[in-house]
Amino acid sequence: MSTPEPPPPASAGVPLCASADLVERGRAVRFSVSQYGRQVPAFALRFDGRVVAYLNRCAHVPVEMDWQPGEFLDADRRYLICSIHGALYEPAHGGCVAGPCVGARLTPVDVREEGEQVCWYPSRHIQPLPDPAS
Ligand code: FES
Repeated sequence: MSTPEPPPPASAGVPLCASADLVERGRAVRFSVSQYGRQVPAFALRFDGRVVAYLNRCAHVPVEMDWQPGEFLDADRRYLICSIHGALYEPAHGGCVAGPCVGARLTPVDVREEGEQVCWYPSRHIQPLPDPAS
């Protein structure tokens, strides 16, 4: 009988921006993470009062989705929209609800608001970029 793998150590949050930088259904804050050792773009925005974050990578074709830097919402500010073929994603959970990849999902990034600060939290496969000074 094998011993279960221990859970990954609790990781510290990575400061992302001030809470006030994310206005309701407004422009997203873009940032970069390391996934499997490669730099990958990500974004965070506020929707229905809650901050959500995903890798900036469409589930249809792995390209960045914003139609202007930081602009991810459709004209009605209701769905995340991919600028390439128009896939619509539910902001609350990242599921595609219309377009060429219905049923697929964006990759979430764990993000939390603490006081006036928004932080994201690394996971097993999504880590901070290496410090260029080290
Ligand atoms: S690349 Fe996003 S909908 Fe096709």
